[in-house]
Amino acid sequence: MNEIIEKILDHRSVRAFQDKELTKEEIHTIVKAAQAASTSSFLQAYTILGITDKEKKAALAQLAGNQGYVEHNGHLFIFCADAHRLEIAAQMEGIDLGDTLSSTENFMIALIDAALAAQNASIAAESMGLGICYIGGLRNNLYEVSELLNIPKHVIPLFALVVGHPAQAADKKPRMPLELVYHENGYQSNEEEYRKQLEAYNETISAYYQERTKGKRADRWTAQVAQMLTQKSRSYMKDYVKAKAWIQNKDSYQQHTEK
Ligand SMILES: Cc1cc2nc3c(=O)[nH]c(=O)nc-3n(C[C@H](O)[C@H](O)[C@H](O)COP(=O)(O)O)c2cc1C
Repeated sequence: MNEIIEKILDHRSVRAFQDKELTKEEIHTIVKAAQAASTSSFLQAYTILGITDKEKKAALAQLAGNQGYVEHNGHLFIFCADAHRLEIAAQMEGIDLGDTLSSTENFMIALIDAALAAQNASIAAESMGLGICYIGGLRNNLYEVSELLNIPKHVIPLFALVVGHPAQAADKKPRMPLELVYHENGYQSNEEEYRKQLEAYNETISAYYQERTKGKRADRWTAQVAQMLTQKSRSYMKDYVKAKAWIQNKDSYQQHTEK
């Protein structure tokens, strides 16, 4: 096994960091690694924000559900789906894109591009001995985040990535058996088999939590996700995406911000 694979397989989220900022060189290396990711049709439909302002970091930590490590880390990145720059590119060529930018396909392209860039950034950071944690909590309050960060139309902050020198030895979370996520030659539709494999995974995860919490927790994975999915979360999202003119309804963002 080579070193890159070893690093990838050793991933774990880190949620406590030393009080040591990343250097400019480290930040730029991570961003360049992100940019090296493949990108649909060469569109590069994402922008990465780096947040260094302490007040903004504190505000973002609150908006992301009071997650302290969003404020205290070596560097805070925010990955945004971005079609704003594409609109400018078209204008430079005298082309009016009309509604085509707002298509679901273009939205998906930007989401995929941003996620691929972020994962490249994560692997780069981990290979430099740094720890990382994605922060989807940012999507709890996207109108407020957008205002704080001056986010234009056709740009959507998707998640943050906190990076830093680890101050904790995080545990590695076991993943599903390979057969559950890798099906050859078509989707595996044998439900009986599915249930058996999921039950085996439940046992693995229960043992993991038991060991990690000295017997206080023994969650089954299926119970954990089913419970989580009973709660509707961030139901404002469709309106927000519309408001950002990514689904056709260009006035609603203005309406919201004027309220
Ligand atoms: C898009 C995304 C958003 C996430 N959001 C959060 C978050 O807001 N807070 C947090 O502590 N962890 C967050 N995580 C980390 C996951 O909880 C973590 O990756 C998962 O539990 C597996 O653990 P591991 O990364 O240690 O293997 C997020 C991960 C992803 C991919």
